[in-house]
Amino acid sequence: MLPSAACLLPLLLVTGIGSSVPSPQALPQGCYIAEEAGEQTFRCSQAGLSALPSGIPNDTRKLYLDANQLESVPAGAFQHLPVLEELDLSHNLLVRLSGAAFQGLEDTLRHLDLSANQLASVPMAAFVGLQIQVNLSANPWRCDCALQEVLRQVRLAPGTGTGIVCGPGARPDLVGQEFLLLAREEELCGTGWGGTRRNTDVALLVTMGGWLTLVAAYLIHYVWQNQDKTRPPLKQAPVQLMHSEDSSNLSTVLC
Ligand SMILES: *[C@@H]1O[C@H](CO)[C@@H](O)[C@H](O)[C@H]1NC(C)=O
Ligand SMILES: *[C@@H]1O[C@H](CO)[C@@H](O)[C@H](O)[C@H]1NC(C)=O
Repeated sequence: MLPSAACLLPLLLVTGIGSSVPSPQALPQGCYIAEEAGEQTFRCSQAGLSALPSGIPNDTRKLYLDANQLESVPAGAFQHLPVLEELDLSHNLLVRLSGAAFQGLEDTLRHLDLSANQLASVPMAAFVGLQIQVNLSANPWRCDCALQEVLRQVRLAPGTGTGIVCGPGARPDLVGQEFLLLAREEELCGTGWGGTRRNTDVALLVTMGGWLTLVAAYLIHYVWQNQDKTRPPLKQAPVQLMHSEDSSNLSTVLC
């Protein structure tokens, strides 16, 4: 009796799944749940995802979303995963992270892989309070003060520091350089490029430029007006002169 029941159970499950409309538990194509080294793991590598998948079980400890087409990580994207320890977002098309992308993972997340994406910058707020080792290699980093501040906040995964290289958005003389070597020689948050002081300098220049343009415009306008005022007397002068001399000639002179 027992073996037949054991054989029937999967059959019942299969027919149950087959007949029903996609259940809320249905996983996106290319995703599967596994137990790896005793840890609940959710794998969605190379699944063609352009958005974060739904149906990730809340007991997931390791989440692999690498090699997809994800472009951004919205606020609170993983906050329903209270025991998440490891998150792999590498080899996607990430250009931006929300400042609250990893909100709710402060107590559990230990490993975060953001390597091989399109990140030129990341908001420092995204990493505040996280006890993680992060891989930031192979992104087109802008290598500015913001990145320097982020790197003071996080711990890099061992051996990944050399992979943080400045991309085309960086200051021309920094492109292609290793950021950590640079940051050792140059204080990027001081008087230099990308610092807040530079931004206020630019704002000041723009404001001054605006005022100068206004003043110049007014001067030009003023000069024009004065030219208009000085012209009529010049034209009228000969007319008046002739008028006083001989009034009969006036009509011919005017025509
Ligand atoms: C997952 O959700 C279920 C049902 O809502 C809950 O009972 C369980 O405690 C949750 N597990 C974790 C690890 O939070
Ligand atoms: C960091 O990312 C690079 C590029 O994806 C990869 O080659 C390297 O193995 C990663 N290192 C660690 C420690 O995760």
